[in-house]
Amino acid sequence: MKNKRVGFGAVAAIAAALTLLAAAGAVAQQPVTFSEDILPIMKIRCIECHQPGGAGYQASGLDLRTYQGLMKGTKYGPIVIPGNAYLSNLNVLIEGRAANKLRMPHDGKKLSRCEIDSFRRWVNRGAKDD
Ligand code: HEC
Repeated sequence: MKNKRVGFGAVAAIAAALTLLAAAGAVAQQPVTFSEDILPIMKIRCIECHQPGGAGYQASGLDLRTYQGLMKGTKYGPIVIPGNAYLSNLNVLIEGRAANKLRMPHDGKKLSRCEIDSFRRWVNRGAKDD
């Protein structure tokens, strides 16, 4: 009788632990990567202006065709501070935290919340070339 109660307690504890694990798994998101998340957004939303010949490249020197171009930044310096999306100019601009006329994409529709979130998570994870 005593053994049975211990057994039930153990089973209940395991069941509770599994429930917690399942909940944690559902919340955890896949890491954002440069090649699968960031580059595709830049191709669609940024490079028409941010490549040689484009208005954004002409004005700022920012070439968004590659990881190297993004990390090099503008002619004034880097726009990404790895690990710190709050202070990275890139995030400030696409989130609209700077003056409205500086918001990126210029003259275009704002990025979706999901896209903005991808940039933020990628920078906070260290802005790696992954
Ligand atoms: C319609 C053209 C256009 C598109 C699309 C565009 N930009 Fe720009 N961008 C510009 C121009 C022009 C400048 C330079 C003048 C300025 O800053 O207003 C610029 C400048 C910038 C700068 C530098 C600002 C500074 O500190 O000097 C960043 C960062 C930037 N763009 C990021 C982006 C990102 C990221 C995207 C895509 C999500 C994007 N841009 C899409 C035209 C564009």
